[in-house]
Amino acid sequence: MSVLFVSCLAVCLLPFVHTAPVSVAWCYHMPWCSDTVWSTISKECNGTEQSPINIVTADVQANTNLTSFNFTGYDDDTNLIEIKNTGHSIKVALDHEKMHVEGGDLPGLFTSMQFHLHWGNGSTMPGSEHTVDGKQYPMEGTNDTGKPESWKTLTSYLADVANAGDEACITEYISMNDLLPGVDRTKYYRYHGSLTTPNCNEGVMWTIFKEPVKVSKDLIDLFSTNVFINKASSSSLMTNNFRHIQPINGRIVTSQVTDVAGPIVPLPTNSCLSDPSVSQTEVSQSTFDLVMEEYW
Ligand SMILES: *[C@@H]1O[C@H](CO)[C@@H](O)[C@H](O)[C@H]1NC(C)=O
Ligand SMILES: *[C@@H]1O[C@H](CO)[C@@H](O)[C@H](O)[C@H]1NC(C)=O
Ligand SMILES: *[C@@H]1O[C@H](CO)[C@@H](O)[C@H](O)[C@H]1NC(C)=O
Ligand SMILES: *[C@@H]1O[C@H](CO)[C@@H](O)[C@H](O)[C@H]1NC(C)=O
Ligand SMILES: *[C@@H]1O[C@H](CO)[C@@H](O)[C@H](O)[C@H]1NC(C)=O
Repeated sequence: MSVLFVSCLAVCLLPFVHTAPVSVAWCYHMPWCSDTVWSTISKECNGTEQSPINIVTADVQANTNLTSFNFTGYDDDTNLIEIKNTGHSIKVALDHEKMHVEGGDLPGLFTSMQFHLHWGNGSTMPGSEHTVDGKQYPMEGTNDTGKPESWKTLTSYLADVANAGDEACITEYISMNDLLPGVDRTKYYRYHGSLTTPNCNEGVMWTIFKEPVKVSKDLIDLFSTNVFINKASSSSLMTNNFRHIQPINGRIVTSQVTDVAGPIVPLPTNSCLSDPSVSQTEVSQSTFDLVMEEYW
């Protein structure tokens, strides 16, 4: 069976940030505002515990505290509320009153706020933020077309949010479990990092699922061919909207068990969990960042 690493839809459960809005201009596509200069526009982005990182599997340490998660509301197909083009990403708002996550050594109960996606340029240019042993993953692509059904439904909304600022209500029935088919959510990497967009706040507990979401190439291609940075009539298509890897600076990545070196490298699905310091959590998949915040 062929496995293609399609341009990534970074799926990460990211915490909604309650900090002040970023006033500085930032972008992915122009040299003067791309992620290579973010460290000069915000003190946080020049911190020492930034994300994403490259995970070196040989350096991963075992951590028996990394138990399984309890997901509440992930099987409810009425919890995806709205899809929006933010000008930097495609963001899907969730019914946070009904969606929670706990366990997995998280410091409490977290509510799932939104997820957003990172991608490259079509199914041949990957766009995951985290890398594993130097490899960048897209959402994994299969030879099927229009699969899975949940992603076909979700991507059918992309044409409605072509312009930055566009938003559309999600009226079709899709659950979070539907969007994560076949992903074993008991196997993941954990480390402390930051948000991957300005202001790059640190204190985020990242959870990166080892297994990718499998989505057919034709659906992955829809992200880099339907969504624009600004107005569809006068701007570029949104492509390569991911931050490049940051120095690890001595941080330790842990997992349930250390990876045994072998011919098959585990595939990542980035999951960023929890930023206790700002009451937020993010969990993500390499094509899909799920944002969570602490539940009160
Ligand atoms: C997928 O397509 C490629 C290229 O056409 C082919 O080599 C491969 O065998 C196909 N894989 C499956 C599982 O059909
Ligand atoms: C970033 O931080 C380093 C020290 O960690 C400092 O030397 C450097 O000047 C800082 N860069 C900017 C643009 O502030
Ligand atoms: C596991 O949890 C215990 C109790 O909170 C803590 O002391 C220990 O350092 C943790 N182990 C790791 C590997 O994080
Ligand atoms: C997860 O749910 C199970 C079953 O409801 C419960 O026994 C367990 O204590 C929960 N774990 C956490 C960490 O909340
Ligand atoms: C994306 O891919 C398309 C088709 O291959 C190409 O025309 C375009 O220049 C690429 N865009 C970027 C930013 O690389």
